[in-house]
Amino acid sequence: MRLLILGRGKTGSLVADVARQRGHDIRVAGASENAGGAALAAEKLREIDVVIDFTAPSCVVANIEACIREGKNMVVGTTGWHGEVDRIKNLVESHGTGFVYAANFSVGVNFFLDVARTAAAALRHGYSGQIFERHHVHKKDAPSGTAIAIQRVIRESSGGEEDLEITSFREGDVVGMHEIVLESPADRIYLCHDAKSRQGFADGAVRAAEWLAGKKGFYDFKDVWREL
Ligand SMILES: NC(=O)c1ccc[n+]([C@@H]2O[C@H](COP(=O)([O-])OP(=O)(O)OC[C@H]3O[C@@H](n4cnc5c(N)ncnc54)[C@H](OP(=O)(O)O)[C@@H]3O)[C@@H](O)[C@H]2O)c1
Repeated sequence: MRLLILGRGKTGSLVADVARQRGHDIRVAGASENAGGAALAAEKLREIDVVIDFTAPSCVVANIEACIREGKNMVVGTTGWHGEVDRIKNLVESHGTGFVYAANFSVGVNFFLDVARTAAAALRHGYSGQIFERHHVHKKDAPSGTAIAIQRVIRESSGGEEDLEITSFREGDVVGMHEIVLESPADRIYLCHDAKSRQGFADGAVRAAEWLAGKKGFYDFKDVWREL
């Protein structure tokens, strides 16, 4: 496939390595090549099958809109735009493009969300809960998109109306750690996912792009990762 990877940062550069290893023909554009959306002009996108975005909350929505306008399928890993999700879904569907997004493209985190769904039952049995997330000091958004996803699945699965509190820590070069702590008067349950590297995000994003080739529609990775 011909892939355009937006973002030459910590994750985008690893996505490029994984895509190359899997035999794809890739182009990469960082902030300077994509100033004013230059990398997403019609003639630049003509040969591209799927665009993968690991950039920043400040530019991701403009990138998404430009790709949809040009009818390009897109995999979006950048976080911090969840408030726009319904509007983007409508745009994707009205333009007939394909789109996969996730706050976390790691298969391990998606297993962890399944664990969180099961653990949410404790909230109906006298437990209270909290979510803790730790990331490196350069992370731009807080709380993390993954922590918000954990909060959402626990609310939906417990049938409760209130969200668990999220506490965010920014320290050192932590790749991404998410903890759920459930507490009753008798005991505490600790659940933790700790990313050892960015490899899991990059693998998942490239495999999502392969899955998306030739498809239309708006997909949350949590609903499709089992098919990869
Ligand atoms: N979904 C997942 O699995 C997952 C996993 C990890 C991270 N993320 C998210 O992905 C995003 C990037 O994370 P990161 O850790 O890779 O950040 P990062 O190291 O700061 O990299 C971001 C890159 O985006 C580039 N950029 C900024 N504006 C751009 C534009 N308009 N067009 C093209 N490139 C642009 C920056 O270029 P310059 O260096 O030139 O400024 C930088 O290289 C964050 O939102 C993070 O939360 C998601």
